[in-house]
Amino acid sequence: ENEEGKIRIGFSQAMTNDDWRRSMNNSMKLQASMNPEIDLQIKDANYDVLTQIKQIDELIADSVDVLIVSPIQSKPITSVVKKAIKAGIPVLVVDRKTEDQQYTSYLGADNIEIGRNAAKEIIASNYNDSIRIIEIKGLAGSSPAEERGMGFHQIINQFNQAQVVATINGNWEKESVQNRLRVLLKEGVKADYIFAHNDRMAVGAWEVARELGIENEISFIGVDGLAGTNGGIQAVKNGVLKATVLYPTGGDEAIKLALNILNNESIPKNNILSTTIINELNADIMNNQFEKINDQQAQMEEQLAAIKKQEELYYSQNNLLKITMAL
Ligand code: FRU
Repeated sequence: ENEEGKIRIGFSQAMTNDDWRRSMNNSMKLQASMNPEIDLQIKDANYDVLTQIKQIDELIADSVDVLIVSPIQSKPITSVVKKAIKAGIPVLVVDRKTEDQQYTSYLGADNIEIGRNAAKEIIASNYNDSIRIIEIKGLAGSSPAEERGMGFHQIINQFNQAQVVATINGNWEKESVQNRLRVLLKEGVKADYIFAHNDRMAVGAWEVARELGIENEISFIGVDGLAGTNGGIQAVKNGVLKATVLYPTGGDEAIKLALNILNNESIPKNNILSTTIINELNADIMNNQFEKINDQQAQMEEQLAAIKKQEELYYSQNNLLKITMAL
């Protein structure tokens, strides 16, 4: 805490140009604004590892009370996180991990389980047939890509009828995989399923298949399951994706955990957000639930804005009163 009694939370965000990260930042901001003592500073590394290291260094030099970090990749961000810990700043790592667990706590869904869930969805709906799968991976060296791949293969390897016939190394964005996939499919590689490590790449894969007129021969599975018109849940409802695996951002939980850490409460090393498969059976329910939550958040934002207005009115009236009395 600084002189003004503010609780200073610094968040090093990997980037902010996709809806998942934007939604994460928004829920952090909303949660933070409920506590007037919190001063939340978000730094966007714009997907550049050196920038992220520099920004974390700045937050350390700034001596924030607690640091939240969503690392672009594990290895390059490990030592600067250690540096923060050595400087006495607790670090909550969210979504992607650093390498050696030298942080205060981790928050995120279990990405191995997410990979397993995707595989189980494939096996469950095709128990007897032979299944050819193309796997599209997230950015190498980022822990969700490694863990989603690991969990997926753990299950697929148990079933002889299922085979990964090709792998594409993506970077979480659809542009990174579309050319390669187009070449593979044109070469005649046949797939019954495409499992992409997130929905953006899964929808990108569907776009390529549609271009080639084979989108109905392949089922697409992604990860994230965001609500909203461009989100994965809507893609399931539209029949573009066969399924998506929910990957909650944990924005509000991150702020709550940061406060618990500052209050010296004992915090689990791993704080696991729950995940679930979203397919045609539950896409409507999930969508309705998230819409309700979004409405509630919008209401909360309105109320917070109203409170702020009231406060400003009160202070200006109070000042007026003081001036009047002084005259
Ligand atoms: C958002 C994102 C998600 C993915 C997560 C993995 O930037 O690419 O789509 O699930 O990061 O860390």
